[in-house]
This record gives sequence, structure tokens and C-alpha cells, in this order.
Amino acid sequence: MQKDFVPRHRVFGTNEDASLKGLVEGIIMLRSLFGFALFAAVLSAGSQSGAQTAARAAKPSPSHTKAVPPNPADFVGSETCETCHAEVAKNFATNPHSKLALKHGGAGATCESCHGPGKAHVESGGDVNKILQFSSATPKLIDDTCLTCHAGSHANFERTTHGAEGVSCVNCHSSHSPKTDTNLLKAPEPALCYGCHTETKAQFAQPFHHKVDEGLMKCSDCHNPHGTFNDKLQKTSADQNAVCTKCHAETAGPFVYEHPPLKTEGCVSCHFPHGSPNPRLLTRSNVNSLCLQCHTASQNFTAPGTPSFHNQANQYQACTNCHTQIHGSNASNIFFK
Ligand code: HEC
Ligand code: HEC
Ligand code: HEC
Ligand code: HEC
Ligand code: HEC
Ligand code: HEC
Ligand code: HEC
Ligand code: HEC
Ligand code: HEC
Ligand code: HEC
Repeated sequence: MQKDFVPRHRVFGTNEDASLKGLVEGIIMLRSLFGFALFAAVLSAGSQSGAQTAARAAKPSPSHTKAVPPNPADFVGSETCETCHAEVAKNFATNPHSKLALKHGGAGATCESCHGPGKAHVESGGDVNKILQFSSATPKLIDDTCLTCHAGSHANFERTTHGAEGVSCVNCHSSHSPKTDTNLLKAPEPALCYGCHTETKAQFAQPFHHKVDEGLMKCSDCHNPHGTFNDKLQKTSADQNAVCTKCHAETAGPFVYEHPPLKTEGCVSCHFPHGSPNPRLLTRSNVNSLCLQCHTASQNFTAPGTPSFHNQANQYQACTNCHTQIHGSNASNIFFK
């Protein structure tokens, strides 16, 4: 696990949540102050969910308006922050988030849109307990803060494995010192993911593997770290194999003669998705043992056993020498061609 990653149950229920709640309300307030529509407009640029975001933005949320309203006068503006945090502000000028300030003619709310209203912090000469510190805030508070603006594209984050396990936005993103040109990542993929997923690193080190370590593919080609509606954060559509067939289109079918496990159990019933000690990423070292998992009369009621002439001591071992179109065929019901 990453050094700064603390599993959720260890950090939850501290008092920080309560004392910093006001700051988050301030951020929510700020957003309504400058208008939901503006944020929605900026966020929707280049985003598919733009229309949805705008629709949501149009009706102000009642729960927000009922909350103890932070005084707009508690916001000091980023120019004030700059007077003491000149170095931070200078580095931030090229950050995509700086566009927020430019929208307000350079007098926008950049810093405080994440760190919360800063008046008390400024007046105390920099009391760190009067400003949102991401280094000590709970994952929930951090996510809520970022999601005040990013809920449009990552609405379900808290319900995903990452969100639920207490992995927060700042475990993968750095707002001030990103190590990538886009997406503000703390480290490029796959190093970012391997920081916590050491077991996956070992899988990609197998003799046969998808070329992720070589930089030809990324974890996020197959997974959406922010969550999907599918198991294991897999990027798929309604067709459960889409994660593989977007690249291996020839296996997608539809075929006149389908091999049912492709659609029922999916590609991973025969292939490891990351890496394998076996050629073709197969889950078994011998093709026959792979096939006989199902094609043994006693094993599976739907898959027929092999015909009696399939003597396993000889040429019948290499099943795919004859049953070549193992993913499906338009010409042969036993996948010969
Ligand atoms: C009067 C000077 C002053 C102003 C103005 C000021 N700060 Fe600070 N800030 C400080 C000092 C001093 C610290 C403590 C520095 C330290 O411990 O390294 C601090 C600490 C912080 C921290 C915590 C740093 C950490 O190490 O975790 C954050 C975040 C922060 N300021 C944000 C802001 C923001 C946002 C604004 C504008 C709203 C702002 N500051 C305006 C003086 C100021
Ligand atoms: C997009 C949200 C966001 C905005 C906008 C933002 N910060 Fe931060 N700030 C963070 C996060 C997250 C951290 C924790 C360190 C990191 O991720 O880089 C942080 C850390 C800090 C720290 C602690 C020192 C450090 O680098 O760890 C200071 C000081 C600070 N911010 C000041 C500012 C000032 C001043 C501005 C405006 C120029 C600003 N921040 C704008 C999110 C933001
Ligand atoms: C006040 C609204 C607001 C808040 C709060 C906010 N963001 Fe953003 N974020 C934006 C906008 C606007 C953009 C720029 C979109 C664009 O350029 O198309 C952006 C862009 C990004 C990007 C994409 C950068 C790129 O290279 O395309 C990432 C990643 C991101 N934000 C992460 C975060 C994280 C993490 C937090 C919390 C620490 C956060 N944001 C808080 C409004 C916000
Ligand atoms: C487990 C790591 C991880 C976590 C946690 C994470 N992100 Fe990301 N994020 C990524 C990666 C990797 C990318 C770039 C690849 C991609 O687009 O899927 C990205 C891209 C983005 C982008 C730009 C592209 C887009 O999808 O809009 C935004 C904005 C963003 N993340 C915001 C957030 C916010 C807000 C949170 C917290 C609620 C968060 N991320 C949590 C890894 C993560
Ligand atoms: C800060 C640590 C951390 C980082 C960084 C991280 N993860 Fe995770 N990830 C976790 C934890 C914790 C879990 C849940 C427990 C487990 O499965 O290990 C998890 C689970 C997963 C799962 C399984 C989901 C499920 O439903 O079982 C996938 C897939 C995943 N992560 C992909 C990624 C990808 C891709 C990246 C890089 C973009 C990444 N992770 C970065 C901590 C992290
Ligand atoms: C070729 C597509 C693909 C790529 C690339 C990929 N994954 Fe996966 N990953 C999958 C599939 C499919 C599963 C589900 C396996 C299953 O259900 O048996 C999975 C499962 C996982 C799991 C859950 C635990 C497990 O092993 O079953 C984690 C964690 C994970 N992947 C992390 C990563 C990380 C980190 C990377 C990048 C280093 C990555 N994956 C790259 C397709 C991929
Ligand atoms: C982003 C595109 C992409 C995705 C998604 C993808 N693959 Fe691949 N796959 C490749 C490429 C490119 C190769 C060949 C180069 C190599 O060795 O990595 C390959 C190789 C393979 C091989 C080995 C072929 C051989 O001749 O040895 C198998 C088997 C395979 N993929 C299965 C899968 C499965 C199963 C999934 C879904 C979990 C999947 N792939 C998802 C791009 C992809
Ligand atoms: C019933 C088991 C099984 C299932 C399910 C399966 N495959 Fe295969 N696949 C194989 C076998 C066996 C081979 C090796 C064929 C050979 O030896 O020539 C193979 C080979 C491959 C290859 C290498 C190129 C080729 O066509 O020979 C790719 C790519 C591939 N499979 C992708 C997929 C994808 C994507 C899926 C899901 C849509 C999938 N496979 C589902 C058994 C399966
Ligand atoms: C996960 C279980 C599973 C695996 C593994 C599997 N199959 Fe199948 N196979 C089936 C099912 C189910 C059918 C459909 C039987 C039917 O339609 O009556 C089928 C059908 C077939 C048929 C057509 C039989 C007929 O009468 O229509 C052949 C040939 C076949 N499989 C060969 C193979 C070979 C060769 C392998 C190994 C590369 C293999 N299968 C791996 C489940 C499996
Ligand atoms: C030398 C070529 C050859 C090899 C190698 C081979 N088969 Fe066959 N297989 C056939 C032929 C020919 C038939 C068609 C028999 C018929 O039409 O009655 C067949 C039929 C089948 C059927 C359909 C049975 C039915 O009742 O519908 C299955 C299942 C099957 N093979 C599985 C396998 C498996 C599993 C392997 C590897 C262990 C394998 N085959 C290896 C030639 C081969």
C-alpha cells in the first residue's frame, strides 16, 4: 500500500469530520454564490455528461440552501492567499483549476473553492486548523470537496470499491504537484496503481501478459478507477465482454455457432486478463485440461463430453488443432473452420 494510504476504518469517526464540515458547506455555498451554471459550463467542456451536469445545476439542491449559510464575507479571494503563499500560487498558474479564477476576471475563488473560506485562517496569521488541510482530512471530506464540482462525471465514486475502502481523490491525484501532463496524477500509470496493487504487478510480470509495463496499454484501458456499474471496476457496456472485444473485435461475434462460455462466463473463464504462465494468457497450461473442465460428462450438464474416439493419450490432446475457431464459427457447429 502507498505510504499515505490509511484504510478507511482507521480514519473514520474522528472529530475532524465535524469541525471541518463548516468548510465544506462553505465550498458548497461558494459554488452557489458564483452560480452553478458557471461551474457546469466549464466542466461540461469536452465532457459527455455536460448536458446532465447542466440539468442538475439548474435546480438548486434544497439541502444546500438549508445548511447553515457560510457568510460570503468569509472568503478572501486568491489574491490574499498569494500574499503569504506566493510559491504555491505561482506554481498553480498553469493548473487547469486556475481557469476557475480567470472566469471571474482574475478575482475568482480558486484557492478557497478547495480549501474553504479563508478569512479566519488569514486573520489568525495562518492557523492551519482554520483551513482545509488535505493531508489530514478524512477521505469522505476530501471526496465531498472535489465532488462539489466533479459529481457530474464521478457521481457514484463513494459506492465503488475504491470509494468504499477509503481510497480518496488525493490518493491518485495531486492538485499542486502532479507528475503527469494531464489528469493531475500523482504518478503515471501503471506505477500509480502498483503503489497499492502489488499483487497485480506480479501478474503483469508473468511470461505472457498484456503490454502494460511496456507502456502500450494502461490499466485504465480496462478499468475505470472511479467506478463502473460492473464487477472489478471493469469498463464495459451492457455486453459484458466489451472490455476485451473493443480491441479483440474478431472474438465478439455474433456467430451462427456460438461457443456459449464466451457469453455466459466471459473471456476470463479461459484467459487471465493480466498475465499468465501459459501462452495465449490461458488459465491452464494444457489446452485439453482447459476444455475438459467443462467437456466431461460428469462435470457439466450443458457441455457435451468429448466423443469416445477422443483418446487423450494421442493427437486428441491439442483440441484447438482441430477445433480451431474456438471463439465461434459461421461455418461449423464444432468450430472446425
Ligand atoms: C497572513 C499570511 C497567510 C495568508 C494570507 C494565508 N495563509 Fe495559509 N498559511 C499561513 C501560514 C503561516 C501557514 C502555516 C505554514 C506551515 O505550517 O508551513 C499556512 C498554512 C496553510 C495551509 C496548510 C499547509 C499545510 O502544511 O498543510 C493551507 C492549505 C493554507 N495555508 C491555505 C491558504 C489559503 C487557501 C489561503 C487564502 C484563503 C491562505 N492560506 C492565506 C499563512 C497565510
Ligand atoms: C483543486 C483543489 C485545490 C485548489 C484549487 C487549491 N488547492 Fe491547495 N491543496 C489541494 C490539495 C488536494 C492539497 C494536498 C497536496 C496536493 O494534492 O498537491 C493542497 C495543498 C495545499 C497546501 C499545503 C502545501 C502542499 O503543497 O502540500 C497549501 C499551502 C495550499 N494547498 C494552498 C493553496 C493555494 C494558495 C491555492 C490557490 C492558489 C490552492 N491551494 C488551490 C487542493 C487545492
Ligand atoms: C470549484 C470547482 C472544482 C473543485 C472543488 C475541484 N475541481 Fe477539479 N476541475 C474543475 C474544473 C473547472 C476543471 C477543468 C475542466 C477543464 O479544463 O475542462 C477541473 C479539472 C480537474 C482534473 C482534470 C485535469 C486535466 O488535466 O484535465 C482533475 C484530475 C481534477 N479536476 C481533480 C480534482 C480534485 C482531485 C479535486 C479535489 C481536491 C478537484 N478537482 C476539485 C473544477 C473543480
Ligand atoms: C484509484 C485512483 C484514482 C482515484 C481514487 C481517483 N481518480 Fe480521478 N483519475 C484517475 C486516473 C488514472 C485518471 C486518468 C484516466 C482516466 O481517465 O480514467 C483520472 C482522471 C480524472 C479526471 C479527468 C478525466 C475525467 O474522467 O473526467 C477527473 C476530473 C478526476 N479523475 C477526478 C477525480 C475525483 C474528483 C476523484 C475523487 C472523487 C478521483 N478522480 C479519484 C485515477 C483516480
Ligand atoms: C491508495 C491505494 C490505491 C491505489 C493508488 C489504487 N488502488 Fe485500486 N484498490 C485499492 C483498494 C484498497 C482496493 C480494495 C481492496 C482490494 O481489492 O485490494 C482496490 C480495488 C481495486 C480493484 C478491484 C475492484 C473490485 O471491485 O474488487 C481494481 C480493479 C482496482 N483497484 C484498480 C485500480 C487501478 C486501475 C488503479 C490505478 C489507476 C488503482 N486501483 C489504484 C487501493 C488502491
Ligand atoms: C486487458 C484488460 C485489463 C488490463 C489492461 C488491466 N486489467 Fe485488471 N482486470 C481485468 C479484468 C477483466 C478483471 C476481472 C477478472 C475476473 O473477474 O476474474 C480484472 C481484475 C483486476 C483486479 C481485481 C483482483 C483480481 O486480480 O482479480 C485488480 C485489483 C486489477 N484488475 C487491477 C489492475 C491494475 C492495477 C492494472 C494495471 C497495472 C490492470 N488491472 C490492468 C482486466 C484488465
Ligand atoms: C486496449 C486493447 C486491448 C484490450 C482492452 C484487451 N486486449 Fe488482449 N491484447 C491486446 C494486444 C495489443 C495484444 C497483443 C500484443 C501483446 O502481446 O500484448 C493482446 C493479446 C491478447 C492475447 C494473447 C494473444 C496471443 O497471440 O498470444 C489474449 C489471449 C488476449 N489479448 C485476451 C484478452 C482478454 C481476455 C481481454 C479482456 C480481459 C483483452 N485481451 C483485452 C490488446 C487488448
Ligand atoms: C472456452 C475457452 C475460451 C474462451 C471463453 C475465450 N477464449 Fe480466447 N482462446 C481460447 C483458446 C484455447 C485459445 C488458443 C487458441 C490456439 O491455441 O490457437 C484462445 C486464443 C485467443 C486469442 C489469441 C488469438 C487467437 O484467436 O488465437 C485471443 C486474442 C483471444 N483468445 C481472446 C479472447 C477473448 C477476447 C475472449 C472473450 C470474448 C475469449 N478469448 C474467450 C479459449 C477461449
Ligand atoms: C466454461 C465451460 C466450457 C469450456 C472451458 C469449454 N467449453 Fe466447449 N462448450 C461449452 C458449452 C456449454 C457448449 C454448448 C453445448 C451445447 O450447445 O449443447 C460447448 C460447445 C462446444 C462444442 C460444440 C459441441 C456441439 O455439439 O455443439 C465444441 C466442439 C466445444 N465446445 C469444444 C471446446 C473446446 C475445444 C474447448 C477448449 C478449448 C472448450 N470447448 C472449452 C462449455 C465449455
Ligand atoms: C484430430 C482432431 C480432433 C481433436 C484434436 C479434437 N477433436 Fe473434438 N472432435 C473432432 C471431430 C471430428 C468431432 C466430430 C465428431 C462427430 O461429428 O461426431 C469432434 C467433436 C467434439 C465435440 C462434440 C461432441 C458432441 O457430442 O457434440 C466436443 C465437445 C469435442 N470434440 C471436444 C474436444 C476436446 C475437448 C478436445 C481436446 C481434448 C478435442 N475435441 C480434440 C476432432 C477432434
